[in-house]
Amino acid sequence: MNVPPMKHYLQFNDLSADEYNYLFSRAALIKGKFKSYEKYHPLADRTLAMIFEKASTRTRVSFEAGMYQLGGSVVHLTTGDSQLGRAEPIEDSARVISRMTDLVMIRTYEQSKIERFAAHSRVPVINGLTNEFHPCQILADLFTYIEHRGSIRGKVVAWVGDGNNMANTWLQAAELLDFTVHVSTPSGYEIDHAVAGVQHGSSSCKVFKDPMQACAGADLVTTDVWTSMGYEAENEARKKAFADWCVDRDMMAVAQPDALFMHCLPAHRGEEVEAEVIDGPQSVVWDEAENRMHVQKALMEYLLLGRVD
Ligand code: CP
Ligand code: NVA
Repeated sequence: MNVPPMKHYLQFNDLSADEYNYLFSRAALIKGKFKSYEKYHPLADRTLAMIFEKASTRTRVSFEAGMYQLGGSVVHLTTGDSQLGRAEPIEDSARVISRMTDLVMIRTYEQSKIERFAAHSRVPVINGLTNEFHPCQILADLFTYIEHRGSIRGKVVAWVGDGNNMANTWLQAAELLDFTVHVSTPSGYEIDHAVAGVQHGSSSCKVFKDPMQACAGADLVTTDVWTSMGYEAENEARKKAFADWCVDRDMMAVAQPDALFMHCLPAHRGEEVEAEVIDGPQSVVWDEAENRMHVQKALMEYLLLGRVD
């Protein structure tokens, strides 16, 4: 069998613009098969191990349902019900799990942890969210933008809120796929360009103090929770600091008239977004959530079988 060279997907930069173009067209095709109930089992007899050290709804359901739809099966592990929670070294876990499965998805804390796992894995490893990055989500967000509006090249994405894993990943995507991110965060919660691996002053990222200015003329307005998983102790301080970073009707009004609104979910209405925006006509959050499954099916197929067109 023609086995592609092993590739991990640990951050957005791990694939090229050309590979993303392939994945977007492949995801559309795979989505079409799903919508027309066409059986498609290219990953028959393949097993995906899913390791969750943090909670999840979308990531778990999209990977698990997606793998079954491709003919494969899944093993679900958490910190609490595996030896990971009893201090078995991540390197040993990687050696063992990757001898019994074909693909691994991990949601964990530090990016360094998933990198250590990948360094000792015999099979491809996918980042299902770390403190630093959430590449599968941005893959779905870009696919959703393209479905609704066509190419994102040259467009403006406004990021309103925390300089977190989602923001870092948007920065990487903008640099790779030639669009611009307008970032507005409260002071003390800025993006760390070094973490994102993007140069200060890069033309793909413009920083604004005022979230209204960040949204002005944007083609897509997007935000995320004020307190990400793992930062719960900062919740009260964050609620005060982020009070003016709530995407509301006024922010949407200064964006392009056909601007979309996205949120990776879960959302807190009345905090990072007003209900009338997330539940309003410009919001595509449900397509965005569904598309996690379609793009990840394309990604899993690509990592295990290479290009199949
Ligand atoms: N957006 C996202 O990753 O959702 P879950 O935390 O529910 O997986
Ligand atoms: N930034 C959020 C995303 C949740 C999908 C978190 O890390 O908790």
